[in-house]
Amino acid sequence: MRKIGIIGGTGIYSPEALQGFKEKIINTPYGKALCNIGTMSGNQVFFITRHGVGHTVPPHLVNYRANIWALKSQGVDEIFATTAVGSLNQKMTAGHFVVCDQLLDFTKSRVNTFYDNPDRGVGHVDVTHPYCDTLRSKVIRCLEKTGIPFHKTGCYVCTEGPRFETAAEIKMFALVGGDLVGMTNAQECFLAREAEICYTNCAIVTNMAAGISPTPLSHSEVEAAMKKSISNMEKLMTAFIADNDPVQVVCNCRHAMAEFGGFKL
Ligand code: HPA
Repeated sequence: MRKIGIIGGTGIYSPEALQGFKEKIINTPYGKALCNIGTMSGNQVFFITRHGVGHTVPPHLVNYRANIWALKSQGVDEIFATTAVGSLNQKMTAGHFVVCDQLLDFTKSRVNTFYDNPDRGVGHVDVTHPYCDTLRSKVIRCLEKTGIPFHKTGCYVCTEGPRFETAAEIKMFALVGGDLVGMTNAQECFLAREAEICYTNCAIVTNMAAGISPTPLSHSEVEAAMKKSISNMEKLMTAFIADNDPVQVVCNCRHAMAEFGGFKL
């Protein structure tokens, strides 16, 4: 039985498939995390809604460490996350799914490590390939069966938010290789690697980014676009959970901190 963490981003708050799941508040050294726990396709599934019930927590205030710690404490060793994104890439348009393979971190004020405590000591995790390639292959395999328009790679630019970007920022992000822009993925991805959990993200394009879009951006536009993709995302999540093909015997993510004695709760 796999233990799978699902982190639902904007628009993915309480998927139909999770009906009958039980709510559990998990205490962590960083605060509480609310998790919905249940079984699907013979696997234990732990669902966290990133922005809280009713989308009350903005991206820069999400308790990323509590969420990742909570999943680790339940024995989760693979996470599938969703994120709404703006697009800088004309080939990636609204409704497209992107299995991100690279990340640019432009956040400014967030804690993105568990290794900031002298008791834990020094840790420098390798994030050359920030997303787990083993899990990414699985997501791609699932997408190939669904007919959803998708891209196998994409570079996610993580901004501080909560404001949207300026047109000049978007121009710069495109110049340095960004394809997509969002406000949440960097911390989650880096913390999951430190916690030796495989982590993959599937981004859903909701809008063209600032200065590319002909109209000003709004959160309601993002939510409305996400609504159109919810059934596709639920299809993908269900396929991902049901795909019990053994991944690789041992993914390197599970030993990311070996040089430092492994990650300890
Ligand atoms: N910018 C930042 N975050 C986003 C966007 C955007 O254009 N769309 C959805 N999330």
